[in-house]
Amino acid sequence: MMRITRTVSGVKLQAVLRVARFVSGLSIVLLLINYVLLIRIWREPLTFISDEKYFNKTLAKILRPRWSGSSGHSQVGDFLIEELQDLGFIALRDELFDEKIFTNFLGIMNTDASSFLLLSCHYDSKFLKNAANYVGATDGAVSCAILLNMARTLAPYLRGEFSKRDDIGLLLVFFDGHESLNEVEEDFNSLNGSRRFAEVETIPLKNIELVVTLNLIGAPNHIYMSHYEDTFLWHNRLANIEGDLQKAGKLTKCHKLFHSLKDHESDIEDDHYPFLEEGVPVLHIVPHTFPDAWHTEGDNFKSLHWPTIRNMNAIIPRFVYEFLKTNRETG
Ligand SMILES: *[C@@H]1O[C@H](CO)[C@@H](O)[C@H](O)[C@H]1NC(C)=O
Ligand SMILES: *[C@@H]1O[C@H](CO)[C@@H](O)[C@H](O)[C@H]1NC(C)=O
Repeated sequence: MMRITRTVSGVKLQAVLRVARFVSGLSIVLLLINYVLLIRIWREPLTFISDEKYFNKTLAKILRPRWSGSSGHSQVGDFLIEELQDLGFIALRDELFDEKIFTNFLGIMNTDASSFLLLSCHYDSKFLKNAANYVGATDGAVSCAILLNMARTLAPYLRGEFSKRDDIGLLLVFFDGHESLNEVEEDFNSLNGSRRFAEVETIPLKNIELVVTLNLIGAPNHIYMSHYEDTFLWHNRLANIEGDLQKAGKLTKCHKLFHSLKDHESDIEDDHYPFLEEGVPVLHIVPHTFPDAWHTEGDNFKSLHWPTIRNMNAIIPRFVYEFLKTNRETG
């Protein structure tokens, strides 16, 4: 060390020091830049990227006649179980008897959690005598694919989050027995799958913080309003998320889906009803009116409105993320 310094002349030493000062100055600047970036990433951690290829593949698996008792019904059921397992859920086939067997499919993440966010759709299609190929694209299929896609989009986040939390878990429920077996088109929904789920308390109802039910999504020109006063704030959150994503240029060109409007006097009968009756807070993500093609053969792949679907695939994961985050902050 001594020998080296002695051989360096004064001028050379000054040059070396200048370089050293420059380098250390530069690294402080870089450090600051890193710090600022880190804070920003930390504040606004994740832009969740939905994988449309995955969504399309998933939808294709579900989009087949799948009325209770058909081979499509059991194929879709098997697919749901496999997919839930792949996505990191504990997957359950929940068979409930009420005159006949109804099979709900459950995906649970963070089984030991003290409470759950439950998201649901129905996977059975209606049996229509005059339309044997009826696939109910908006009637269940798209909603179920949106839920699986949400789980896939959030997978790394959920894994990390649930490895360190026990205050909340995630439940996906794919209800059976939504459609009545009656062949009448306008027949009321039977809701046997969800009714039995709520009756036998497959999951204790007191542990469910919020039930979010998706249905009839994917037709053009539909808007979404709030249906219940006690979940109006959550509905508003959906509207705000859509606005934020829109501003950030993260949405596909489309009309506005979520409106901060209270349509609290009416709702479409759906699988959240049995929970509503038991006092569980429910958020119904359903359009303001039935799709034109509802319960006709026309409710198929060709009639789907992709801008609506794409934007839902951006909004719903963000909503789940924000729900879990808010729960941590307030819980
Ligand atoms: C998904 O399907 C839609 C409708 O057919 C198509 O427009 C879109 O390009 C597909 N997306 C991908 C990534 O393949
Ligand atoms: C399902 O529920 C309806 C009432 O919502 C009931 O009439 C029907 O018998 C139930 N069972 C079956 C097998 O559909």
